[in-house]
Amino acid sequence: MASWLAKHAQGKVFVDEVFDAVAAVGKATAQHGKAQVVNATIGALCDEDEKLVFLPTVERVFRGLPGEEIAAYGSVRGLPEYLSAAIEQTFQNSRPDAYIEAVATAGGTGAIHNLLWNYSNIGDAVLTHDWHWQPYSVLCSDIMRRLETFSFFDEKRQFNINSFAQKVSELLTKQDNLVVILNTPNHNPTGYSLTDSDWDQVITVINQQAVGQKSITLLVDIAYIDYAPNAEACRRFMTKFAYLSPNVFVALAFSMSKGFTLYGQRMGALIGVSKDKAALAEFVNASVITCRTRWSNLSRAAMRTMAEIYKDPALLQQVGNERSAYAGLMAARAKVFVEEAKTANLEFLPYSAGFFVTVPCASPVTSSDILRQSNIFVVPMAKGLRIAVCAVPVRKMYGLAEKVAQAVQGACPTR
Ligand SMILES: Cc1ncc(COP(=O)(O)O)c(C=O)c1O
Repeated sequence: MASWLAKHAQGKVFVDEVFDAVAAVGKATAQHGKAQVVNATIGALCDEDEKLVFLPTVERVFRGLPGEEIAAYGSVRGLPEYLSAAIEQTFQNSRPDAYIEAVATAGGTGAIHNLLWNYSNIGDAVLTHDWHWQPYSVLCSDIMRRLETFSFFDEKRQFNINSFAQKVSELLTKQDNLVVILNTPNHNPTGYSLTDSDWDQVITVINQQAVGQKSITLLVDIAYIDYAPNAEACRRFMTKFAYLSPNVFVALAFSMSKGFTLYGQRMGALIGVSKDKAALAEFVNASVITCRTRWSNLSRAAMRTMAEIYKDPALLQQVGNERSAYAGLMAARAKVFVEEAKTANLEFLPYSAGFFVTVPCASPVTSSDILRQSNIFVVPMAKGLRIAVCAVPVRKMYGLAEKVAQAVQGACPTR
């Protein structure tokens, strides 16, 4: 027998993209000491001592929960106070004039899975940008969908609306409904945020394409939204969701991982937005069934933590202040890199804020290997190097762009 697995489960191999880098960092640190190693592989916020950040107020509320709020089941849909807090945190002053409902999910990942399962058909293409968080691909393939991409940037390194429009149109000739995932603001891995005018263009395209038999489900992955420099401006696009064709359904993937530094608690929410009350009722019903069957229910402690923070404006303000301080720190780290990159003539993708800066290059693995010789560890991606400004202290950012420039050149001297 070739395989005991059912046909759809055969041939799957989990590839941990950072496993190799993490192992190499460990080895270099043991050999040369932490001070000599630049670890730009981590996808979590670290302080200037390179320790994982747990926002102090979040930690205090979490640790102060009574035992029963930790031990008891959460509800399948999620605690109502949590869901309303997640909606508040997501939209703030930019609530679209539409119905909004939320369902608790296992992190942003669970939200994405939940939406893909319920809004795309087996065999469908799902569309996202060519630069993207790698798990989108396996989230699709695991449930027999396939990920297709459009070019995120044009030759001027601006949002490539033509590529987006062309791809949406092409895919809608082959299928009646299309799920589109856009990761913004503070996109992973580039740090790009769609501007208001990018959004206007996106909405024009989807309104034009989602007509007659054709429909579009737009999923906005906002995993990094809370680190945008202007909480108000970065949410303005959400008000535009009141002006969509009736053939467009919108959802947002909310996550407590980055914004509340609760990565391991696996808390998120899938938030549906529609002018059509029946469409939203259907959204809740289908999503809750997926929650029930995939994980049953989730961390009550994480949901209660969020609810407690939202109950007390002073706590909420404190969390916001603590987070802003770290967002400022990341901005300072990125600024060093960006300024030095310009001096070193090193190309990088448009960065507005967020955890990562990306350098496009022809031979990412070779460039990454060259950097390793200087004890600098980054994540090689398909078309570039991902540099985690969330994890590298300011002092270690100095000189990094120059080293990356040399490695990119060294790997491909003809460039
Ligand atoms: C772009 C993006 N979306 C979603 C997630 C999901 O995070 P989680 O499942 O921890 O909420 C991540 C995590 O790294 C991410 O980078």
